[in-house]
Parts: sequence; C-alpha cells; structure tokens
Amino acid sequence: MIEHDVLIVGGGLAGSRAALAVAQNYPHLSVGLISKVHPIRSHSVAAQGGMAASLGNVDNDDWLTHAFDTVKGSDYLADQNAVRVLTQSAPEVIIDLEHLGVLFSRAEDGKIAQRPFGGHTYSRACYAADKTGHAILHELIMNLRRLGGKIYQEWYVMQLIYEDGMDSHSQQVKGVVAYCLETSAIEVFRAKAVLLATGGYGRAFNTTSNDFASTGDGLGLTVNVGLPLQDMEFVQFHPTGLYPVGVLISEAVRGEGAYLINDAGDRFMANYTISKNRMELSPRDITSRNIACEIREGRGINGGKYVHLDVRHLGREKILSRIPFAREEGLRLAGVDCIDHPLPVRPTVHYSMGGIPTNIDCQVIGIDSQPIAGFFAAGECACVSVHGANRLGANSLLECVVFGKRAGEQMGAYVRDRPMPKLDPSPYIADATARIKHILAKTGNSRIAEIRQQLQDIMTEHCGIFRDDQRLRNGLEKLQAIRDRYENDLLIDDHGAVFNMELMQAIELGNLFTVGEIIMSSARSRQESRGAHSREDYPQRDDAKYLKHTLGYRQDGTVKTSDRPVDMSLKAIDSDRFTPQERKY
Ligand code: FUM
Repeated sequence: MIEHDVLIVGGGLAGSRAALAVAQNYPHLSVGLISKVHPIRSHSVAAQGGMAASLGNVDNDDWLTHAFDTVKGSDYLADQNAVRVLTQSAPEVIIDLEHLGVLFSRAEDGKIAQRPFGGHTYSRACYAADKTGHAILHELIMNLRRLGGKIYQEWYVMQLIYEDGMDSHSQQVKGVVAYCLETSAIEVFRAKAVLLATGGYGRAFNTTSNDFASTGDGLGLTVNVGLPLQDMEFVQFHPTGLYPVGVLISEAVRGEGAYLINDAGDRFMANYTISKNRMELSPRDITSRNIACEIREGRGINGGKYVHLDVRHLGREKILSRIPFAREEGLRLAGVDCIDHPLPVRPTVHYSMGGIPTNIDCQVIGIDSQPIAGFFAAGECACVSVHGANRLGANSLLECVVFGKRAGEQMGAYVRDRPMPKLDPSPYIADATARIKHILAKTGNSRIAEIRQQLQDIMTEHCGIFRDDQRLRNGLEKLQAIRDRYENDLLIDDHGAVFNMELMQAIELGNLFTVGEIIMSSARSRQESRGAHSREDYPQRDDAKYLKHTLGYRQDGTVKTSDRPVDMSLKAIDSDRFTPQERKY
C-alpha cells in the first residue's frame, strides 16, 4: 500500500495548483499526485485565450463587476458565495502565478496585458498569446517538482475507497485503487484526504474541443460510490470549433476583433436582439445558439454546417503576435491560412458547468449538502457552482487556480492533526484484479471504438444545443440499449500487460455512459430554458420552479434526480445587480 497525507487525482491546473499549495504551505506533509497521462499532457495545457481577473490594467475594473458579469452570465444559477471567492481572489492569484514564473503577455506600459472576452464588461482576460494553459501548467508542474511533490504519471484510478470511518456512523474517503499503465501493477493508495481534479467529459460527444483523456473519470468514480453530481444538464458548446474537426479556435480571436459571418456575408450576431450590442463578444450560450440557428435555417456557408470566422481585417502582424496558435491550427487542420481566408467554424462541446458538488472549501457534499469526510474536488470535474448554467470564457482557468490553491490549503489544514485512516487493502486489490480479468476475458462482437462512437452520436443528436423531452427520452432509451452491448457483448483484443490502452478505454467508456445518462436525466428534469440548457418545449426561464441546482445520482441501478438551493448572498451587497432579472446584453 502506498501512503500520502494528501492524494490528488489529476495533473491539470486544479490538481497541480492544489498539490503545489500543499507543498508550499505544509512542507512536512507528503503529497502524491496521480495522473493517467503525463501531467503536462493534461487537457489544461490546451487552454488558449486567457484567465479573467479585475487587475484593471486596461479599464477601471473591480471584483464586484466581475462577479456581476459571472452571475448574469450564469443565468443567475451560480452560487454567489462561490463567485465572490472566485472574483475577489482573481487579482492575487494572477500575481502569484507571475511570481511562480508564468510569462504573461505584456501591454505597452509593461503591465500584464488584458483582452476582452464574451460577457465580460471590461478587458480582463490575462493571457500568454493564445497558449495560456501551456504557459501556466508548465510552471506549476516545475514548481511542484522543485518542492518535492511525488508524481505518479500514467496511473489510472479505478476506484474511490469510501467506507466506514473511525466513527462507524459515518463513511469517509480513505484513498483510491489505481492501475499502473506501464507495468499493470495494481496498488491501493491510502490518504487522509483525496482531491479529484480529473477534468471534463467532452469525449461523451462526437464534436469536442477536449482531448482524448476527457472521459469524465472523476465523475464516474463519484457516482459509483453512491454520491451525486450537480447541474449536469449544463454542457457548454464553445461557439468556434474548427470545422469539421471540432478543435478550439480560441475566443481570444473574437476578443482581438474577429467577425462571425454567414453565407450571405452578414455579421449575423446583429440580427438577434439578445446579441446585437455585444455582437461576437456575447456570452457563449447565446453565440453558439445563434450559430446553430444560422446553420439550421440554411445560412451556413454554402448551406453547410459551418459559418465563417474572419480575421483578415486584423492584419498579419496582429494575427502572428496575438493569435499565432489559431493560425497554426487553421493551417494544419483545415488547410486554411486565416491571414488570407476566413476560418470555417461551428459550435463544439467544450466544458462542463456541472460536476461533483462542493462547498467553497472544495469539500465534496452529499445529497444532504453535508461534507463527505476526506473528500475534496476542484476544477472542471467539480461544481462549486461559479458558472451556474453558462460559464464565461476565461473564468475556467481562474476557477482551476483559485479553487485548486484553496483546495490544497484546506486539505493541508484538514489532514494536519488527523491520523491515517484504518484500511485493509486486500479486498480492494482482489476486486480490481477480478475486474481487470473480467474485462480482458470479453470475447463478444462489439469493439470499444464502435460503441463509443454510437454513444457520442446519441449524445450529440439527443442532447445537443437544442433539446426537448421526446428527444431526451429516446436518447436515454438508446443509451441504455448500447450500454447493454457494452456490458454483455464487448470484444477486447489486447491482453498485454504494458500500456494496455484498450483496457483503460473499456473502463473510461463505462464512465462516459454514467456521465451521459446523468446529463440526459438531469436535462429531462429541468423543464425550462436557462443558460446553455435550451428546451424547445419549455423556451422560458422559470425562476419560480427552477432557480435551484439539479442533483443526479444512481440508486438501485437507476438514475434519480433531486435538487438543492442556490446561494444568493451577493444580493445583500447589491440587490440591483444580483437579484435575478431578464438576461439582456
Ligand atoms: O476560447 C478560449 O480560449 C477558451 C477559453 C475558456 O474556455 O475559458
């Protein structure tokens, strides 16, 4: 059995910032970080456009305006106590990153440069060209290594250990069971506190900006021990995925002044009342819906499934200095040089507003809203609910760094005076060994890639930008049918013990099913339209019934839903701005 005081699962921005916070503040504690990929290949490395903070280097900005933009962007579903932590901490975490060595782009006066992003009143996205995640993640991992954090790279976590604690009335998280991809060793990792920071689930859909590793593993681990997920119906479509591959063309491109153009050559954002003021810098839910409407109504380019993103008027020099990666992607993946031609784009699944519910100290909470002993979550897999029904661009890197740091600090304090939990590893090793043997023995007719493709197609067709009850119900039925094939008709070819990716993908696929079923069930239960959740059969927002968070969980083999209230505490500071009202831009 391997032991650490604090165990972190996930090596992206939230996980690495948390591990670093433990190492910085509690050097006598041992911190271990497990990642299924090399940590700097975590999906955070692909984050492009920026990280929001009211530094006020360009405009006269302040945290309360950032908070207001975030709450309004969330369609009033964000927890206002969490938004307060996020936006108040933002300036200090940017400076802290700079002190850790992150090279942010600079303005003429030498201050950190800030660019506009959708739904933000002021220019507040701090950036490193359009490679911001890359710049931050490398420094976090370097600093973690410098301070002696132990990294287990290419280990896959198969199970969360959640069992009776010292007080037999309550259960606690005591560690995880993990599988080493390189050697196929199975180990129990015991810890006083475990943080899940495993990122999103974009691979549940067929068009996504997310990498292959974004398979909702932490969400699956949580549901498998009987705990709920929150607000899973809110799936963010980023407006500008490169067509047809779906990779991200950063919002920074629109922040720098790009136009969205339809087949008639119109800047069509002007034709929708809700976006005619902010145009291309409207929030993502609105921009993606508008693009989807253009395509649906035949105004995609040549009647096709994409519109144009035009940067030619910015000029070569600005393109090369501010958005070099977007140009490179266009050239490499679509054969289009955006200096001379517009880029083909359409909405692509990008981000999960929902996730594992936590309080503002990153402690995971159960259905009764009480903290689960020893269990923490941060970053995209968590739902501390700073994004509500729709996240503003540049608030996600911020969330990872603010709540990752906070999680590390909180976990350090939490474990300081606690003993290592009592734990017998043998039944867990036996279970994991039997589970792997069972998977490797599958000799059915259906390959993982085929079932996964079907799952992704069902999610995309039945739970996309526009939804209704009939489509969701049919989608759930289809998912259940292919889940049956996954469980009873799978074929595994690779029986090797070294980097058996097929084995890992078989387990990941189980997590994608869990996530897909909870997304669709939560989407069915919310009979209103709010933020990224657009119900064509319930087109209005309904605060009287649905100003609350959805909880989705599995009980007796079926998915159930319930709810919990939204925190409205910023209303007490500024009731004019923070009382829910019609969302106009
Ligand atoms: O468009 C982007 O660069 C993405 C930023 C974000 O999701 O926050």
